[in-house]
Amino acid sequence: MKSTKIIINGTNKLCGSVKVSGAKNAALPELAATILSTGEFQFEGVPRVEDIKVMFHALKNLGAEGQFKSNSVKIQIPEVKSAVVPKKIVETSRASILILGPLIARNGYAKVSRPGGCPIGDRKINFHLEGLQKMGANIQETDDHIIARTDNHLKGIDYTFPGKTVTGTENLLMAAALAEGKTVLRNCALEPEVGDLIDLLIRMGADINGKNTETLTVTGKTSLKGTGHTIIPDRIEMGTYVIAACLEDNEITVENAIPQYIKSLLDVLTQIGVEVTTWDDKITVRSIGPLRPVEVETMPFPGLPTDLQAQLTTLLTQVEGISRIKENIFNNRFQHAWELNKMGANIEVSGDVSVIKGKTPLTGKRIRTTDLRASAALVLGGLIAKGQTIMENAFQLFRGYEDMPKKLEQLGADIKRIKE
Ligand code: EPZ
Repeated sequence: MKSTKIIINGTNKLCGSVKVSGAKNAALPELAATILSTGEFQFEGVPRVEDIKVMFHALKNLGAEGQFKSNSVKIQIPEVKSAVVPKKIVETSRASILILGPLIARNGYAKVSRPGGCPIGDRKINFHLEGLQKMGANIQETDDHIIARTDNHLKGIDYTFPGKTVTGTENLLMAAALAEGKTVLRNCALEPEVGDLIDLLIRMGADINGKNTETLTVTGKTSLKGTGHTIIPDRIEMGTYVIAACLEDNEITVENAIPQYIKSLLDVLTQIGVEVTTWDDKITVRSIGPLRPVEVETMPFPGLPTDLQAQLTTLLTQVEGISRIKENIFNNRFQHAWELNKMGANIEVSGDVSVIKGKTPLTGKRIRTTDLRASAALVLGGLIAKGQTIMENAFQLFRGYEDMPKKLEQLGADIKRIKE
């Protein structure tokens, strides 16, 4: 799997419709939330991506029964048989940290491997641990594991996150749903995936107020029930195909979209001169005339997502003039820049800012990707590059994009996945 490659013969015009899959970053906490109940769950719209397979495997290892077939997951955890989440199962993803909150809440003990995921800088978890400690968990950290235990039920707290954290908000929310008494979480993340998790938890019987605001109030319940749930569309996949549509004179309609989820990106595209048309559930864009450079920065939702920064960089290499992107969320998320430069881009990175000097034609090269969103940016680069691009370590792409080569091939791209 790790030696997967993607081969792209560039410059084909792309046209047609592409359908966005369910959101990986909603499905991950939502599958973890099943730990909070002994009931049966039925999820639809679950993306068949590697990170979700890892979460499913980790839950099975805890004692879950069920199946992951096509885009549906049926799952039930009648009994926690093992409260250990081993490194060998979860090392490539953030699954373990999302399991910690619900597992300690249900079981009073959890030993989880330190979270993995994309190497995009420091990915601290101190707010997760501080919040759980305040709820009464005793936390012990080793080089490889986080061990949490409590003799009694977790207790409701009033906690202000010192900084915005998506999985931190989700973790404490899940723990609070089964804690004793009232929890008030302040300065919570506003990402749509948090809102979707709240919808699921409420359907499970949780008492949560404040959805889509920074203050969430949770009154803990002694038990929660199983339910059905359809995962929201993936806004980062949505944004990635919208950016693909802006490259050259492609004509792509992005379907199963929720334009409001990526308003910040659509605003940037309008600013650079792209014509954006939105409907309730689809988006079309058209690059009319020469595009203008921009200066933008990544921010927590509703700001420009860090998860679209790399893909936007590829587009800006094709815009005449000097563009700047400031990355405010992670401190090492410009690794795509070196590979795009190998292909002919002119990107200078200094600290948390990248300066993109365009317009530069790209040429196919042998490149190596380091993380999920960098992979998407490099695939976009390969689509417009002259000649053949061979992307190594392409396993990273499949951690979060369902069927990307197939979807692009259906739009007219010459792209193949090679498993060695
Ligand atoms: C989530 O990661 C997403 N992952 C990431 O998606 C996304 O890039 C990120 O949110 C930001 O939007 C999932 O939802 C599974 P954070 P998460 O905690 O929750 C600091 C992708 O490509 N921080 O919001 O791990 C941290 O160091 C991925 O799909 C603390 O200081 O991110 C970082 O600088 C990659 N202490 C910033 O906050 C904490 O306790 C944001 O991190 C927690 C975070």
